[in-house]
Amino acid sequence: MSLLSVKQLSVSFNMAGKNVRVVDSLSFDINESEILGVVGESGSGKSMTALSIMGILPDSAKSGGQIVFKGQELGSLNSERRRALRGNAISMVFQEPMTSLNPVLTIGYQIAEVLTTHKGMSVREANKRAVELLKEVKIPSAEQRAKDYPHQMSGGMRQRVMIAMAIACKPELLIADEPTTALDVTIAAQILNLIHAIKEEKNMSVMLITHDLAIVSEHTDRVAIMYAGGLVELAKTEELFAKPLHPYTIGLLNSIPGGKGDALESIPGTVPRADRLPAGCRFSDRCRFVLPKCRAEEPELRDVGDGRLLRCIRNERLSL
Ligand SMILES: Nc1ncnc2c1ncn2[C@@H]1O[C@H](COP(=O)(O)OP(=O)(O)OP(=O)(O)O)[C@@H](O)[C@H]1O
Ligand SMILES: [Mg+2]
Repeated sequence: MSLLSVKQLSVSFNMAGKNVRVVDSLSFDINESEILGVVGESGSGKSMTALSIMGILPDSAKSGGQIVFKGQELGSLNSERRRALRGNAISMVFQEPMTSLNPVLTIGYQIAEVLTTHKGMSVREANKRAVELLKEVKIPSAEQRAKDYPHQMSGGMRQRVMIAMAIACKPELLIADEPTTALDVTIAAQILNLIHAIKEEKNMSVMLITHDLAIVSEHTDRVAIMYAGGLVELAKTEELFAKPLHPYTIGLLNSIPGGKGDALESIPGTVPRADRLPAGCRFSDRCRFVLPKCRAEEPELRDVGDGRLLRCIRNERLSL
C-alpha cells in the first residue's frame, strides 16, 4: 500500500532571469513500512524533493505537481495544517545535526519541546518522555545526557538526538537526507542500523537519501535513481543490483569499489547543470548506448514489469 505519492513534482529556481527546473516531472510512491532509497549524484534534486514533501522549500523555489499523503493532497492544506503534519506524521533527519540543533538549549529541552508543541504534553511529561527517547536511540546515561548541550556531544550522538526528535511524535514517514555523510564509517553504520531497527519496531516508512550504494543495498527495500532532477529508474533493491537497466544505473553500479570498473571509466563526463540539459533524454550526452531517437525526445517513464520503472527506450540488458 502506498503511504505517499509524489506526482509530477517539479521544483524550479530563477537563475539569471531564467526559470530552471532542478526537479522535473518526478513521480514515485513510498509504500507502507518500506525503506525507499533515493540515490543520485550531487545536485540531482534529492534534497529539493525531500523539502517539497516536508513543505519547507526555500521561498525562492517554485514548485508544481502533487504530493499525496494517505490520500490527502498536501498542497491543498492550509499552512497551519501543513505545519501540524511536519515533525508529526512526517519528519526529517538532516545531514548536519549541528545546524538543526539550538546550541544554547539542552538536548533534553529540545526533544521535550517537540512533544509540548505537537502533542500538547505537559513539560514534566515531555521531559520524562525525552529521556525515554534518548534511551530508544541508545544513548547511554540518558538522564545525564539530557542535560547536555549539543556541543558536548559527538557527531554520532548528535545524530541520535536528531533521530530521537524525529521519532518523538511517532511519524509514519521519516525522511533521512544523507543522515551519515558527516560521520565516520563505523558510526555511520551504527546510525543506519538504528534507523533500520526503529523502522522495524515502529512500522514506519523511511525515505533514505544517500550517495552510497553500499548503504542502499544493505538498508533499502526499493531504490529510486535520480539523474539531473529526473527519475531514471526505480526497482526493488535486489532486482536493481542484480539487473540494472538504465545506462546511468549500470554506470553507477560499475563505479562501486570492487565493481567492474571505476567511476570515471563507467560514466564519462559530469552531471550537466540544470539549465544546460541536453535535448531529449537528460542522460543522452553521457550515454554509451545513445541512439538518434534519444536526442530527439525525452523517453517516457514506463513500467517494465512488476512495478519496475525505467526511463529509457531500451530495456534489454546492456553491458559496458
Ligand atoms: N536556493 C537555491 N537557489 C538556486 N538553486 C538551488 C537552490 N537550492 C538548490 N539549488 C539547486 O538545485 C539543484 C538540486 O539541489 P539539491 O540540493 O536537491 O541536490 P542534491 O541531490 O540534494 O545534492 P547533494 O547530494 O549535493 O545534497 C542543484 O543544482 C542546486 O544547485
Ligand atoms: Mg542534498
